[in-house]
Amino acid sequence: MALRLGDVVPDFTAETTQGTIKFHEWLGESWGILFSHPKDFTPVCTTELGTMAKMADAFKQRNVKVLAVSVDPLDSHKGWIHDINETQQCTVSYPIIADPDRKVANLYDMIHPNALDNMTVRSVFVIGPDKKLKLSLTYPASTGRNFDEILRVIDSLQLTAKYKVATPANWKDGEDCIITPAVTDPEVPALFPKGHRVIKPYLRYTPQPNR
Ligand code: BEZ
Repeated sequence: MALRLGDVVPDFTAETTQGTIKFHEWLGESWGILFSHPKDFTPVCTTELGTMAKMADAFKQRNVKVLAVSVDPLDSHKGWIHDINETQQCTVSYPIIADPDRKVANLYDMIHPNALDNMTVRSVFVIGPDKKLKLSLTYPASTGRNFDEILRVIDSLQLTAKYKVATPANWKDGEDCIITPAVTDPEVPALFPKGHRVIKPYLRYTPQPNR
């Protein structure tokens, strides 16, 4: 069955380009991203892994560990990393799982027979420090992912985990947030000392609490 938001994500042990990883143990107290690729030595995947490599510091600053998975074997991954570094002018510093028997791909339901019967689709799983699934995205093989969007969602997830706010459409770090409906009007001044504005009783904005 497909994973649902709030589920504890499946644990696994896998061979990666940086040695054997026991997934939950490797995550520790960190946030995590597990993202899949249809196949090594394919053009869109090459740009995606390069983009992620160049954004590695941004994920690290947010305490997010990054792990990629592709159904090809370790030797293939090592040759491909060389190509990615060369063509995308980057250094891939995160591990890539070798999943030739599709153990991880099947565990996370990354093989979609209606799209591709022998490759993973472009899945992204964002996992919280509690090992629970916070976001999942599925893209078709023909569309490269927007990693700025993944970073944006992580900013929102980390903010809303700490404060009683939600983030509006197209929100970016630093912009005003929405006070969650569960907060009553009398509670607002103490919880949001930076102020607030009421557009409708159900639509109340406040400056981002941690900025
Ligand atoms: C790619 O990464 O370029 C790709 C992979 C599978 C199908 C289509 C494109």
